[in-house]
Amino acid sequence: MGKGVLVLDFGSQYTQLIARRVRELGVYSEIRPYNIAVEEVKQLSPGGIILSGGPATVRSEDAPLCDEGILKLGIPVLGICYGMQLITKMLGGEVGPASKREFGRAELESLKGSPLFRDIEMPMTVWMSHSDKILSPPAGFHPIARTANSPVCAMSDEESRIYAIQFHPEVSHTPLGRKLLANFLFNICRLNADWSMSSFLEESIENIREKVGEERVLCALSGGVDSSVVAALLHRAIGDRLQAVFVDNGLLRLGESQRVKEIFMEQLGLNLKMVDAADEFLKDLEGVTDPEVKRKRIGHRFIRVFEETARGLGEFKYLAQGTLYPDVIESVPVQGPSATIKSHHNVGGLPKDMEFELIEPLRSLFKDEVRELGELLGLPKKLIWRHPFPGPGLAVRIVGEVTERRLRILREADRIVEEEIEDSGLYNEIWQAFAVLLPVKSVGVMGDERTYDYAIAIRAVESKDGMTADWVQLPYELLGKISNRIINEVDGVNRVVYDISSKPPSTIEWE
Ligand code: XMP
Repeated sequence: MGKGVLVLDFGSQYTQLIARRVRELGVYSEIRPYNIAVEEVKQLSPGGIILSGGPATVRSEDAPLCDEGILKLGIPVLGICYGMQLITKMLGGEVGPASKREFGRAELESLKGSPLFRDIEMPMTVWMSHSDKILSPPAGFHPIARTANSPVCAMSDEESRIYAIQFHPEVSHTPLGRKLLANFLFNICRLNADWSMSSFLEESIENIREKVGEERVLCALSGGVDSSVVAALLHRAIGDRLQAVFVDNGLLRLGESQRVKEIFMEQLGLNLKMVDAADEFLKDLEGVTDPEVKRKRIGHRFIRVFEETARGLGEFKYLAQGTLYPDVIESVPVQGPSATIKSHHNVGGLPKDMEFELIEPLRSLFKDEVRELGELLGLPKKLIWRHPFPGPGLAVRIVGEVTERRLRILREADRIVEEEIEDSGLYNEIWQAFAVLLPVKSVGVMGDERTYDYAIAIRAVESKDGMTADWVQLPYELLGKISNRIINEVDGVNRVVYDISSKPPSTIEWE
């Protein structure tokens, strides 16, 4: 990563944000666990190192420390919050508890000119979140800025090019934080801003060609953003030597199969095998109401169908997958291992027992970077900005047994939700909005007739990563319109309710 920045992760909730900010400034960055060995760092040979914040205190016995050699490599270092306290402790300074925990805005005053603050007007507003402070900096370090509560709020050793700050430059509450990070990258590390999505695209194409040579690559296309971008990228790199497989499991949204065919076969000209396995999946789901059993059966059937299809398509050395960066970062386990809440089924993660070498060209990208790449590859905006859709499809949105009739009802209701949310202009502000079919029947009246039909629940949530979510306060008018349309247009539904639960304690999908 010669011209990039290494971010060492001490468990801060902002670590990914630091890496993002650096990339936004045109410099490649990668996150590694705090305990990476100095030898590995030497091999990576980064142009700068950032030590993240973290929830621990360096005053505790089991505080996470980095390899001491890392601070002696002569590579410029920026310590942020915990990173600052760590530098202080490891290089012989003194850290103590702050007289009061400092959280929120503070005004930073400069004590000494520093390349870190070049062209930044002081005092500068910064965002603090810490309960320890620097009592005395290590030998060779000088305070360069302070706040009312932190006399050493920033310090540096210009000779060894180690800088440390108590506040968080990566968050938007530090308005000039971006400028400060730019100063670190360009004035101190002397890096160039030459990382962009188009340079990434060119490099990836070259790497894929070099790796694949004359071999063939197999790829499971789900129609979601990640697998679509992988397929489009590989197609650009190796053309017909990419074989994509799309499995219609019968649990997809209305018109999905047709859409995939149009975009990938007709517009992009991909070598795409479409498999209609709906009957097999539906058969496996007959009589099944337990959500975990549904998920497992769908997962197993997918592997079977995919393997069988692949076997009929000849020899492949490689399997391409849309693994993203957040899936590969080994973060510091601050909490214990979390319990399995749902067994997630991802098209990408499946054929474990097939003998392929993996190609994961999105391994270093964040979700929105993948979208940017997709746009560069010419994929339709609508596909790129589509809400996430679970691998087990509509099966986990039909509470109770999955039948043809229930699927038909849910598909029609789902299409109305999507159309109305799009029309309202709110689509891109919402993480997911969809319909759920409840196994509850209730009494209604239509015309002069009594009805006894199903209820549909509408779910709309906002979220950053799907891990936590809050229900969206959709305008009543919009909810009214969706409800009216569903009850009038979808045969079999006579009641619509709105799900107002957040995650946790609920989950986003109902099953
Ligand atoms: P939950 O329901 O666990 O969902 O709160 C969190 C996010 O994950 C999506 N989801 C899945 N995605 N395979 C997937 O690829 C799955 O099996 C799966 N289950 C849930 C869900 O749509 C939400 O965005």
